[in-house]
Amino acid sequence: MNYAVALPDHGTLDRWRAAARIAISHRIAPEEIDWSGAGGLFAAEDLPKDIGPHQVRVPTAFLDIAKSAIWHKSPDRAALLYQALWRLDRRDGDPLSSVDPLGRRLQMLAKNVRRDIHKMHAFVRFREMPGDGARRRFAAWFEPEHHTLEPGTPFFAKRFADMDWMIATPDLTAHFEGGKLRFGPAGVRPDLPDDASESLWATYFANIFNPARIKLDAMRSEMPKKYWKNLPETALIPAMLKDAEARVQRMREAGSTPARPGAAAISTRYRAAMPQAPDLPESLDEAREAALHCRRCGLCEKATQTVWGMGAPDAALMIVGEQPGDREDLEGRPFVGPAGQVLHQAMDAAGVDPGQAWLTNAVKHFKFAPRGKRRIHQSPDRSEIEHCRWWLGLELGFVQPRLTVALGASAAYALTGNAGPMQDRQGKVEQGLHDGPVLVTWHPSYILRLPDPAAARADLVAALSKAQASAS
Ligand code: URA
Repeated sequence: MNYAVALPDHGTLDRWRAAARIAISHRIAPEEIDWSGAGGLFAAEDLPKDIGPHQVRVPTAFLDIAKSAIWHKSPDRAALLYQALWRLDRRDGDPLSSVDPLGRRLQMLAKNVRRDIHKMHAFVRFREMPGDGARRRFAAWFEPEHHTLEPGTPFFAKRFADMDWMIATPDLTAHFEGGKLRFGPAGVRPDLPDDASESLWATYFANIFNPARIKLDAMRSEMPKKYWKNLPETALIPAMLKDAEARVQRMREAGSTPARPGAAAISTRYRAAMPQAPDLPESLDEAREAALHCRRCGLCEKATQTVWGMGAPDAALMIVGEQPGDREDLEGRPFVGPAGQVLHQAMDAAGVDPGQAWLTNAVKHFKFAPRGKRRIHQSPDRSEIEHCRWWLGLELGFVQPRLTVALGASAAYALTGNAGPMQDRQGKVEQGLHDGPVLVTWHPSYILRLPDPAAARADLVAALSKAQASAS
């Protein structure tokens, strides 16, 4: 007997699980199934429609590996997973262990996919599209190594729930419109140079983002720039670009704050002295180096330097504050000022070893207003926090903590996307945008401002003790 199973280009995991469940319940051996859907040399049949008599219990560890490995580009990933399931069912060794060749292979597939998803979360670059609807519209082109668009997009659906967006890849396109995620045919690779301007990208995406406005076959021609003047839809380009540029200009005007005299010169000198950062950080060290050159928002102009996280690069516990204060800005290390003292005392009381945790901030530059010779702390606004999520996301991705503590509302917003009041959230665990757990508690500076801080201090210690217990 020879069975053929064709896996679709999306919904792949669900289809594989359904097929594997049926196959194993009929005790169909791995060598009887061709997962490429082709059926091999012999006439192939579809699998039976209904579940068979054999009951199987699947360990969670297997599902964890399958959830990632199935998205690998390797053509035998589905067959390998089924072989593992078959052996688990027969109690034939431990096919998930790294001492077993099959286990080793599956672990590697799963790891490659997780890494690819992490890269996608870090490196997808959305461009805003002109539009007149109530929701803002964004688009991105991305080339993942594996079939990671589907498992990678729920992250964006959560983070950008109030916008419409699409991510086009060479295999598949994800569309998020009106809060609904769907997948469509592969995107068209833009024939644009890597250093194309934002306007070129905007034009490209404006064409593929709203096919109703544009002729599809012209879009499929990949829009080589040199042919633009001959394409009928280019009549729309000036209007689209004008609107996009006016919008950017309005944003610039709304967001700009005057720099302290001399500040630009200091930060420019400082950045010029730094080694050149690689474009796509591949490690925590590379991410730190890249962050030293950050110009994602205006805060870099006034601050002395980027204050990157500190601690154990593989910490199980990550603690995130709001932004560096005056002392941190000068020393270049987080939590070395008065708020840091409160935090370190609380960590000490909770038995958290600072050398075993990763301490960082939601925003990496000090935001302040000069008053005489003093620099008065100002809370970062949402857009500054959102710009800086790029770096926080890289830290989360490389450190991979089991649990993250959000100190105060800015950190809680950065990590969860929820800007709700602290009173309702203190001491509770929420789901982070990165999919990991986030324990929300008071910021040490808030404790410092309270006339009677004992209760809040105790809350902070209790939260850190709880965090320590669940991370270890
Ligand atoms: N407050 C923070 O949130 N972080 C620091 O690093 C210092 C003060």
